[in-house]
Amino acid sequence: MSEALSAGSRNKPVRRTRSLRARDFVVLCASFIAILLLMLVTGAVGLVEAVAGAMAALAVTAAYYVGSAAVTLPDTEAESATANLPPGPAASVVPLKSLPLPAFEVDLDQRIVAFNDEAEEVLRVNGRVRPRASTLIRSPVLLSAIDEAIRTPSDVPAAVEVEAGPDETWRAHVSRPLQAERILVVLEDLTPLRRAARSRSDFIANASHELRTPLTALSGFIETMRGPARDDPESWGRFLDIMAIEAERMSRLIADLLSLSRIESSEQVAPRDRVSVRDVLRAGASALEGFAEERGISLSVAVPDEKLPVIGNYDELIQVVENLVSNGIKYSRPDGSVRVTVGRAANAQEGRAQAAQAWADSDRMTLVQTVSRLGMGDPVVWLRVEDEGPGIESEHLPRLGERFYRTDQSRGGKISGTGLGLAIVKHIMAHHRGGMAVETRLAQGTAFGVWLPAAKLEKAAG
Ligand SMILES: Nc1ncnc2c1ncn2[C@@H]1O[C@H](COP(=O)(O)OP(=O)(O)OP(=O)(O)O)[C@@H](O)[C@H]1O
Ligand SMILES: [Mg+2]
Repeated sequence: MSEALSAGSRNKPVRRTRSLRARDFVVLCASFIAILLLMLVTGAVGLVEAVAGAMAALAVTAAYYVGSAAVTLPDTEAESATANLPPGPAASVVPLKSLPLPAFEVDLDQRIVAFNDEAEEVLRVNGRVRPRASTLIRSPVLLSAIDEAIRTPSDVPAAVEVEAGPDETWRAHVSRPLQAERILVVLEDLTPLRRAARSRSDFIANASHELRTPLTALSGFIETMRGPARDDPESWGRFLDIMAIEAERMSRLIADLLSLSRIESSEQVAPRDRVSVRDVLRAGASALEGFAEERGISLSVAVPDEKLPVIGNYDELIQVVENLVSNGIKYSRPDGSVRVTVGRAANAQEGRAQAAQAWADSDRMTLVQTVSRLGMGDPVVWLRVEDEGPGIESEHLPRLGERFYRTDQSRGGKISGTGLGLAIVKHIMAHHRGGMAVETRLAQGTAFGVWLPAAKLEKAAG
């Protein structure tokens, strides 16, 4: 089996050069004969000379076809080299195509002689025939591991880590199984694992930091009330107010973290309930009317006549509305307005256009891509929350929705928040197999839009 597979990959270049030579052969013949025909028609040569010329042309091009076979020497050399190997798996040591990871083989001359499709992409072979390993591999660690395997054959793979870029790490397993004449290299992409580990540790660091800040304030006031302010109960009222705010901040943070982890753990199971977006909008927005009033923001919610049913989770969708609307209120200018609109669209693309592509001159970014379960032709319900805030600078857009990410503006400013709101919305939209996008104009405002699969209308009417 291994022989058949590796022969297949080894013969590819041979076949390619043969077909190239055949093409040249046909082109040369056709051009010669065309010239002779032209000369015959115009009377420049007679019939006998034309036939003789055609035969000569055929002979010359045939000689080229046979002679140019020498160009493919590297392949024939490879074939004869493997043919000279001892009986057994002389070609590929393992069927490379059956490996789900990028894998390639290097011969004892350090040339790459076989590779699967995944490795072709990683190594960027670009049609090169039996390239030297050192021309495609830049990592000295990997090259020396290959060199070591050539000198000391071993069935046990040596694992080396290759830093392929600032944020890209691979582990290469290098072995020379069965004392073969080839070194097998299997590559494993560690990048997603490393990223996940880093984001886990960032998350823990951020969460502890966010919890420690109010906790430090609380402990500070307790100390003060026990110590210097012990005999000044009048000041206690002020301290207790601040302590209540800090305690509230901690409990909000914990509630957000729990909510995020609950959504994450249920992300694999798509929601099933029929939920009316109109009802969600009513409930979510009315909860924030007081907040808007407090801040002097006019909140206008275009509640539709129709129910706009979707397949979703009511509590999660309420959180989407609350987070987006509360951001709109928080970041809007003091006498600004926040507008919420909803509607139905024929498909996800149209939904996105309605939800987050309404301004001609805005910076835009899709934060959650609609995935396969929502076919591009399926109808969606979209929701748009638009404010008149400062806008968001374009360099921040790709990071919106990262846990604890806040733009410098809000960090430096007086607006409180932990940077979990958009992360929650992002996870909820992914859970709903929906999408999320933002558009923003500096000094004019920002609009966040979401869309999710609509439920069938017939049932909604019943
Ligand atoms: N409508 C908006 N206009 C301007 N900036 C915004 C807007 N919405 C979000 N942002 C920016 O994105 C950041 C992340 O928002 P997110 O809702 O995740 O966190 P937050 O509002 O700071 O805290 P919370 O966890 O309380 O929601 C905000 O800190 C703010 O910098
Ligand atoms: Mg927020």
